[in-house]
Amino acid sequence: MRIAIILGTRPEIIKMSPVIRECERCGLDFYILHTGQHYSFEMDRVFFEELKLPAPKYNLDVGSGMHGEQTGKMLSGIERILLEDTPDVVLVQGDTNTVLAGALAASKLHIKVGHIEAGLRSFDRTMPEETNRIVADHISDYLFAPTQNSKKYLLAEGIPEERIFVTGNTVVDAVYQNLEISKQIRKTLERFGLEERGYFLTTVHRAENTDKKERLAGILAGFEQIYAEFSLPILFPAHPRTVKMIREFGLQVPEGTQVIDPVGYLDFLQLEGSAKLILTDSGGLQEEACILGVPCVTLRDNTERPETVEVGANVVCGEKSVILCVKQMMQVGKGWKNPYGDGDAAEIMLKELIGN
Ligand code: UD1
Ligand code: UDP
Repeated sequence: MRIAIILGTRPEIIKMSPVIRECERCGLDFYILHTGQHYSFEMDRVFFEELKLPAPKYNLDVGSGMHGEQTGKMLSGIERILLEDTPDVVLVQGDTNTVLAGALAASKLHIKVGHIEAGLRSFDRTMPEETNRIVADHISDYLFAPTQNSKKYLLAEGIPEERIFVTGNTVVDAVYQNLEISKQIRKTLERFGLEERGYFLTTVHRAENTDKKERLAGILAGFEQIYAEFSLPILFPAHPRTVKMIREFGLQVPEGTQVIDPVGYLDFLQLEGSAKLILTDSGGLQEEACILGVPCVTLRDNTERPETVEVGANVVCGEKSVILCVKQMMQVGKGWKNPYGDGDAAEIMLKELIGN
């Protein structure tokens, strides 16, 4: 069986890394097709280097753009490659435009599609990711759902049960595989002048948070309040989209918040694991905080990761005041159970694909 792994953004590289390693371990015939949706060194190459992943065989270099333009370029580029270098199955992960294009191109060519992280739903169609998830799920042949909850959503949408496999999330594999390596080779906290549990960590990049001035200003004002209340620094490795919008809107980063460039995964895992609390709108961070036992406040109106809220690891801020959410989550104990599996999701998926 020949497998094409299609990816294009930071979270896809990280969450596909256990699948890539498992393909290598099993000696499978596979190649990586990178769409180039992310291309800055710290959003792309750093992960291939740090995680020692094989270089993509193809890179479409599509770069940034409007949704239609970006997705359209990917679609035609992926189709061309799949026609020349035809796999038996295409694997995509998550909910980005890369996933939509990869699944659609393969499906139209009657190539089997495996969707990793299937069945997540925010039930908010204003998010571009929700459309991507729904379309990818409905044209996939193998739906690798991380939890029973995501399987339930898929069944409710009429997807046949025999296509759905509950596997856990490869993010657990990625955390377990890389955290120890990271601690052995990096003294991250020292480098940033931070102390264990002596800082907050934040990331913000969702369109709904970055693209409206009032919304982004409101988030920064929340950070100001947190610093005034707790006198702990807030480290903010900022997505390029967010940096661009802070500049465009002429916003000031408040005292106590330190904006830095995005960091590689090995540093970032340590920053997450030692934080007092994480504030984020990232999907991956909600999961990783939960896995690492660090409380999380989600800076959004909803989440497609309700499992993290149900186990008590996360609260969705919505209209509530961020400071109240932070105070609430600083009270919680850390004994919750990680709902995303045991770190063998990639192995389970590949067994399903190639037969046990
Ligand atoms: C994309 C995904 C989002 C995912 C996120 C992960 C879609 C619709 N969105 O959002 O679901 O959570 O990736 O990080 O697929 N930029 C750079 N360098 C890069 C990449 C982006 O400077 O390497 C800047 C550009 O100004 C670009 C902007 O970031 O216009 C947004 O990039 P884009 O890939 O369109 O969306 P993300 O916000 O990264
Ligand atoms: N991440 C990283 N460095 C950073 C910020 C995030 O390595 O500076 C990792 C993080 O650990 C997680 C992933 O990037 O695995 C999340 O990506 P992002 O928030 O961009 O996307 P989302 O998960 O929301 O789709």
